[in-house]
Amino acid sequence: MKKMICHATALVLFTLSIFIGYSEQLQSSQAQILSRIQHLLSFPESLNGWKNETDFCNSEPRSTLTVVCYEESITQLHIIGKKDTVKLPENFSIDSFVTTLVKLPNLKVLKLVSLGLWGPLPDKLSRLLSLEIFDASSNFFHGTIPKGILSLAGLQALILDGNMFGGRLPNGLGSLSVLTVLSMKNNSFSGSLPDSLVSLKNLRILALSNNKFSGEVPDFSNLENLQVLGLENNSLGPQFPRISSKIVSLVLRKNKFTYGIPEVVKSFYQLEHLDVSLNKFVGPFPSYLLSMPAITYLDVSANRFTGMLFEDMPCNIQLKFVNLSANLFTGRVPSCLLSNSRNRIVQYAVNCLETGDVTQQPSSYCQNQALAVGILPHHRRQKEASKIILGLSISGSFIGAVLVVALALVVVRKFLAKNVEQNFPVRIIEENASTGYTSKLLSDARYITEAMKLGAIGLPAYRTFSLEELEVATNNFDTSFFMGEGSCGQMYRGQLKDGTHVAVRCLKTKRRHSTQNFMHHIELISKLRYHHLVSSLGHCFECYLDDSSVSRIFLVFEYVPNGTLRSWISDRHSRRKLNWTQRIAAAVGVAKGIQFLHTGIVPGIFPNYLKVTDVLLDQNLVAKVSSYNLPLLAENMGKDGGHSSIASTELMNTRVKHQEKFDIYDFGVILLEIISGRPINSKSELMVLRDQLQASITVDNASRKSVADPAVCGACSDESLKTVIEICWKCLLKIPADRPSVEDILWNLQFAAQVQDGWKGEYSNSSDGSPVSSFKPARLRLTIPQN
Ligand SMILES: *[C@@H]1O[C@H](CO)[C@@H](O)[C@H](O)[C@H]1NC(C)=O
Ligand SMILES: *[C@@H]1O[C@H](CO)[C@@H](O)[C@H](O)[C@H]1NC(C)=O
Ligand SMILES: *[C@@H]1O[C@H](CO)[C@@H](O)[C@H](O)[C@H]1NC(C)=O
Ligand SMILES: *[C@@H]1O[C@H](CO)[C@@H](O)[C@H](O)[C@H]1NC(C)=O
Ligand SMILES: *[C@@H]1O[C@H](CO)[C@@H](O)[C@H](O)[C@H]1NC(C)=O
Repeated sequence: MKKMICHATALVLFTLSIFIGYSEQLQSSQAQILSRIQHLLSFPESLNGWKNETDFCNSEPRSTLTVVCYEESITQLHIIGKKDTVKLPENFSIDSFVTTLVKLPNLKVLKLVSLGLWGPLPDKLSRLLSLEIFDASSNFFHGTIPKGILSLAGLQALILDGNMFGGRLPNGLGSLSVLTVLSMKNNSFSGSLPDSLVSLKNLRILALSNNKFSGEVPDFSNLENLQVLGLENNSLGPQFPRISSKIVSLVLRKNKFTYGIPEVVKSFYQLEHLDVSLNKFVGPFPSYLLSMPAITYLDVSANRFTGMLFEDMPCNIQLKFVNLSANLFTGRVPSCLLSNSRNRIVQYAVNCLETGDVTQQPSSYCQNQALAVGILPHHRRQKEASKIILGLSISGSFIGAVLVVALALVVVRKFLAKNVEQNFPVRIIEENASTGYTSKLLSDARYITEAMKLGAIGLPAYRTFSLEELEVATNNFDTSFFMGEGSCGQMYRGQLKDGTHVAVRCLKTKRRHSTQNFMHHIELISKLRYHHLVSSLGHCFECYLDDSSVSRIFLVFEYVPNGTLRSWISDRHSRRKLNWTQRIAAAVGVAKGIQFLHTGIVPGIFPNYLKVTDVLLDQNLVAKVSSYNLPLLAENMGKDGGHSSIASTELMNTRVKHQEKFDIYDFGVILLEIISGRPINSKSELMVLRDQLQASITVDNASRKSVADPAVCGACSDESLKTVIEICWKCLLKIPADRPSVEDILWNLQFAAQVQDGWKGEYSNSSDGSPVSSFKPARLRLTIPQN
């Protein structure tokens, strides 16, 4: 059959959640409701083109408008107006509007943003019993939160940012038991935060900035899932909030927090973003903040922190932003902040530091100020203990530009990934309507993690390729360019015009679908871009001429030149071997790749049936995961991924819960091969090695070395080896739920890497050449998380 290239389909990144084969012609009554909505909203620009005969369900989603149908009714409606929309005219009635909306009873996702809506939010919204995500940001709603909303038992995200809501938050919020995101930024809510918030066990994101809340923050220490807490610009305090150690982002800026930062913050091992600026904190600066394991953003400016800073203070090299300005610091700026400061912003003006620049005050000034706020300088004792003494404060000017908190994305994705797993055990990828939506929602809100952005660095933008281009690159898919055929279709090596080496995966479709039906897969694939993943570069559709349905899909990936991880660790014929430090780094890379697959995209991808031969090394020996479980394959190619990793055969028969832990098991197998340097090809080999591993944990150093690859363990610290062995053993536990999380794995591996680094340093420095066995890296010592 003659074929042609489809019209280069522009990649619609917001194509979300289209159920293949389920989109139906809408019942005409629902179409009439949409027409009515259009009328009531005074024909906003985003609805231009809506007519009676429009096929709403099958229209291309746009950033300003999405309608998603399931079977015969509308399940998602997103209408997004222009940024600075004015209020709708006087004859607008929010009551009639909501009366119309509730005639769409199956709505799960309702997003009405920047439409000029005004009035109090009507109670009858409660008739949308299926509602899971409600976003009414950037309108002119006033009044309090209606009780009706509190009866929506399935509500997962309630987003009312940028309105004129006021009054107190209702205590009934606590009854929304599956609420994951509660965001009420930029309103005029006042009073204290309701105590019932502490019962929202699923809460991941609580964003209440720019309101008038006052009083103490309720005790959130039991909210184990809370990862983002944004309280900026309220009047909360004076006690530092009590939160669980899983917090990732904490913004207390511009409040009335006064008492110092409690010791417990030390245990916040995932904390990346901490902003306590513009409060009234007094007392010694907890210098451990600079060296917390995950910290990348630290703003303590415009408080009255005291203390002497030292050049040799440790700090986390990943810090991207540090603002120490306008406090009462004396001493010198830690050199770790100044050295190697690629892309790093460090500010420390208006203290009493010895920098020689004019913004600093004389140290006597800071000392007097410190006395004035009632803190006595215990000069010598503190110098020894925490290396801290005193300083001064002049309140600095306030920068309005608020860096939007990272991580929410990861956070919610993780939650959603779990959800998907529970609800839909069989399909490998499930386009749950609201799942996709939330990802979009949060990326809209620019909740994009710094790590994610950095992750894709160095890759050209994702794009559509033409078939000619791919034919040229692979010399017409010449056999000499053929790399192999597997569950993932045929694979060809190729070189683009600009010299870039690529790997092209060619997939034949089984069923006839239009390109549009693939767009949501493509959207997902376009996000598979990460430092530790063999990343996607683009795609190309080849279509049948007769009905333009897709005949083949080409997926273009980066080409990773340095062979498989196995060839670097356990291949007997290979002369190249990774040393211990490189092996830990490779394991970290694989774990990060898995973490990205689970949480970096929505829906998360697992299980991935990973094997050591699926891990490739690039020219810098950076480990990249390839052959992950591409959603497109499973669903449209009628395959199940095809790999049989050891875990998958063992576990596919058991329950389908904890699917993400299957990957942990497979990771354990890879790690075992990394440690032992022995290829593991069968279950019996695995079991023997695992038992040896287990025995070696409790026995001695010598026994551990006997498990480890002799080629590397001559030069590895015992503590480092032991840490890796322990985590490996945990990954291989029988019961999936007992296996560690990816975060715990990363944490342990990074710890092992640091011990090894420090050990090497000590080893080469010590005069007799013997390792200093008691060495422990200072910056991690106090913060090993509980499992
Ligand atoms: C509001 O009034 C304008 C004219 O003043 C009219 O065009 C519009 O249709 C009215 N809207 C509604 C919802 O009645
Ligand atoms: C659309 O439908 C409404 C009611 O069903 C009708 O009043 C209106 O004339 C129709 N408009 C067009 C352009 O067909
Ligand atoms: C909230 O207000 C701040 C400034 O006060 C502004 O920068 C931000 O864009 C607003 N956010 C929303 C969602 O309205
Ligand atoms: C603080 O919040 C109030 C609303 O409560 C807002 O009007 C004001 O602009 C905010 N200030 C800053 C600096 O964002
Ligand atoms: C650091 O803090 C000071 C004092 O609050 C402020 O004036 C300055 O703008 C801040 N710097 C940055 C980059 O935010």
